[in-house]
Amino acid sequence: MCGIIGYTGPRPTAEVLLRGLERLEYRGYDSAGLAILDGGVVRAVKVVGRVERLKERVAVEGPAGGLAGIGHTRWATHGEPSERNAHPHLDCYQRIAVVHNGILENHGELRRWLESEGHRFRSETDTEVLAHLVEHAFEGDLEEAVRAALQRVEGSYAVAVVAAHDPDAVVAARHESPLVVGLGKGENWVASDIPTLSTFTGNMLVLEDGEVASIHPDRVRVRTLDGRGVERPIFRVEWQAERSLKGAFDDYMLKEIHEQPEALGRLLEPLRGPGAPGRAPLGRGARNGSRTLPNGRGTSEAQVAGLRWLPELPTNVDEVWFVACGTAYHAARLAASYTDELADLPSRAELASEFRYGQPRVGPRSLVVVISQSGETADTLGALREAQRLGAPTVAVVNVEGSTIGREADQVLPLRAGDEIAVASTKAFTAQVVAGLLLALRLGQARGVLRPERSGGILEGLRLLPEQVAAMLAVQEARMQELATRWRDRRDLFFIGRGRDLAVAMEGQLKLKEISYLHAEALAGGELKHGTLSLITEGVPVVGLATQPDLAVKMAGNLQETRSRGAEVLVVVGPEAEGVTELAFMSVVLPQGVDPLLRPVLAVVPLQLLAYAVAKGRGLDVDKPRNLAKSVTVE
Ligand code: F6R
Repeated sequence: MCGIIGYTGPRPTAEVLLRGLERLEYRGYDSAGLAILDGGVVRAVKVVGRVERLKERVAVEGPAGGLAGIGHTRWATHGEPSERNAHPHLDCYQRIAVVHNGILENHGELRRWLESEGHRFRSETDTEVLAHLVEHAFEGDLEEAVRAALQRVEGSYAVAVVAAHDPDAVVAARHESPLVVGLGKGENWVASDIPTLSTFTGNMLVLEDGEVASIHPDRVRVRTLDGRGVERPIFRVEWQAERSLKGAFDDYMLKEIHEQPEALGRLLEPLRGPGAPGRAPLGRGARNGSRTLPNGRGTSEAQVAGLRWLPELPTNVDEVWFVACGTAYHAARLAASYTDELADLPSRAELASEFRYGQPRVGPRSLVVVISQSGETADTLGALREAQRLGAPTVAVVNVEGSTIGREADQVLPLRAGDEIAVASTKAFTAQVVAGLLLALRLGQARGVLRPERSGGILEGLRLLPEQVAAMLAVQEARMQELATRWRDRRDLFFIGRGRDLAVAMEGQLKLKEISYLHAEALAGGELKHGTLSLITEGVPVVGLATQPDLAVKMAGNLQETRSRGAEVLVVVGPEAEGVTELAFMSVVLPQGVDPLLRPVLAVVPLQLLAYAVAKGRGLDVDKPRNLAKSVTVE
């Protein structure tokens, strides 16, 4: 993970780098550092901890001036978080500085060789190898030296390098880690993501794997690692003077939980707005835009006019795979249940890390949908590439505009949830679930297997959904706070559900444990008696989900099993299952008339609020939980 930034131009370099690092901090926050070319020398400042500390240190120590510089915010992989291991890393003579995101797999071997050549190392990181390799290869041209150094490394990297002899240049390169160049007038940037750059400029170009950019204030040149010139198209994104601030909220997570009605409203705008069809910016993946999908589109397309704005999906497939990690995987489980039911296709959800190395049996007749908020998750990207290698048509559901996964998939469905800054995903999750439902409707419609009354009913339900989420937020926030006060010092919590409710239970437990550090576990209702019931004793908190009418009676039985052992139960139930509430210490009853397919979106809201309130009550940094980062660009 880690975030990197580079800048060359007339603005105060440290200020620009620090501003960029604040935006990139979601990618890692173990340590931070920057290096600036100042009066012919490289001056580096590093701290353990947050960018805020780096800011304080720079305010005291400088360097303030300089024509070019690089910065880094770290999520430790090799070497503990310490000042020594923080980036930038410098060569022996302190004339070259490197920041890196990724993992260099052959660093041990290279380090031994460099040491035998007389190089002395100061850190335990894999990255320091690069600084010495560049030094070793340097014969007066920084870009050439970087290209030569990178030809020797194996693994993933996005790097930015500065050198004292070339005081207004930043050389940047990527392989399997994201990197974008921002273009200005008389100034240029490079950074790990588009949202960071969009606070400085609206013009960008995305580097592809194996490319190196030589960046000066007045020019950017892109070449391949072996020195061939490359023309990269410039694309425009909306320039954002300041990125979403917390506003009236204490934390980004709470703000993002409350933004869900608005985010869903944006995603569903073509269904909800007046004369809406065709307004959403949906389309093909940028890079593979001209690739033709195996497509069986036909007369049934007109069946549900309201869905024409969605990507065209191939209908001559025999199965659908949804592939993702973490929270997005929970959305994938729901999406698979939707395509199974509405498109009448065998569908499954798979963890991207398992898919990638599990020799998946997919091919041209398997539709593979990858889901990712960031669009940069290494495992999900690897899974997408594996699916494409096997000839499967692919669709990406992503939130971050221009992200690698969105660009590489055959088709893309943008979530339009807006910036998600808190590490714990909330509004992207509910948008991913709704996107999964939309894709299922689209596929069912294209295959001609969906009755118009059924799709019409679901579409009507989707139109009402943002307001229902808003009502849920309004009613449940104070109640979940109250429950959090009671539960915040418990040791273990259990989340139980069946079918779609199991996916919601999994999401509820992940949210709670990642930010509160309490142990939480999700399991299928039917599995309780096969082992875990032995952990349910007097006062143990249990969250039971029973929103699916056909499974409510079974869930009531399972919750009864926990109650009999003294569990303290919160239930989230559909209106038909109100009987279950008698078992509960507290209940959330979903409104009447909501289609069971849409209920997961409402049911997860109280669980998000509960997780937030528990973590907040424990005095934790809700937005930046320990050991985690927002964008996981390493395997
Ligand atoms: C948890 C969370 C993570 C992400 C996962 C995948 O709250 O946010 O589990 O869902 O790391 O990230 P994306 O969606 O960016 O691929």
